[in-house]
Amino acid sequence: MPPPRFRARLAGVAAGAPQWFTLPGVPDRVLAIPGRGVVPADTPVLRADDLGVLRGDGLFETVHVRGGRPWLLDEHLDRMSRSAARLGIPLPPAADLTALAEQACTGWGADEGALRLVCTRGAEHGDGTPTLYATLNPVGEASRRARRDGIRVLTASLGLAAAARSQAPWLLGGVKSLSYAVNMASLRWATESGADDVLWVSGDGYLLEAPTASLVWLDGDTLCTVPAEATGILPGTTARWLCEHAEKLGWQAEERMARPADLFLADAAWLASSVRGLAEIRTLDGTDLPPSEHTARIQDLLGFGVPAAAEEPAAAPTAVASPAVAPPVEAATDDEGPTDVP
Ligand SMILES: Cc1ncc(COP(=O)(O)O)c(C=O)c1O
Repeated sequence: MPPPRFRARLAGVAAGAPQWFTLPGVPDRVLAIPGRGVVPADTPVLRADDLGVLRGDGLFETVHVRGGRPWLLDEHLDRMSRSAARLGIPLPPAADLTALAEQACTGWGADEGALRLVCTRGAEHGDGTPTLYATLNPVGEASRRARRDGIRVLTASLGLAAAARSQAPWLLGGVKSLSYAVNMASLRWATESGADDVLWVSGDGYLLEAPTASLVWLDGDTLCTVPAEATGILPGTTARWLCEHAEKLGWQAEERMARPADLFLADAAWLASSVRGLAEIRTLDGTDLPPSEHTARIQDLLGFGVPAAAEEPAAAPTAVASPAVAPPVEAATDDEGPTDVP
């Protein structure tokens, strides 16, 4: 077995260069299992008949780790418990999940990280015990760069009317289930089309969410986000935190239904999520949105590290090119691997 990889922060690196190199002593990737604690990250965890694999039948949370601690953990555990109840999966008590999360974070030397708590329905031919584990990974450079450079976004129809999922509980609106193949396919489609991300739109033309992020936008002094209950989107912990703290920037907060054209009139629009933090939407369907003076303030409020400006000016997002001529684009999602780390 190859030796585990280690890494630590390199001070004073050239701007724009990856901020990490490998060093003994600091874990690069972590896996924690209830009852066993932290084990080597490549330890097998799942049986071949685990329903999480066979059916995508399970749930997860992705939590930002800052200063060595999971941020907004209680909020994530609340959502996880709601997801589990909707799926009918018996989740261990919150105290056990907190202990598992803290165990995974022990010894994490980096400024930030992406903690996943995963719970599946367990083995198809088992005794009904859910499978549970936690992983902790570095935040990918693409996510960090998106905080600084913003992102190019394409709208894409989800087909359903905005109200459909709230009226059909079997569609699992608002549940952070493991069934993310459609989300990942949407992101691949965006990348192949020369963009960075997607904004899903309902069949009746309303903005919903991105495959791994919530939409927030500023209209005058009102910070807006899409109502989760009425639309069946995932209630984002980051968007909610921003709305609860908007007054610190002199803004009020509001849930609002909107259409793509409304974003061209907004003062700024961002995708918000637990690991990427905030990424300003700089083009929408190939049309530029002017950079917003508010981005630095709201980034500052949210507290995610924004990498220093590149020595060469960061390439401003350009209009979306046709897939045939678009340069390869590294997707920046919360669920990406550490694409910069070999
Ligand atoms: C579909 C979807 N919407 C929104 C979000 C943002 O949620 P949070 O801010 O809790 O990360 C995510 C996060 O992964 C997501 O997968």
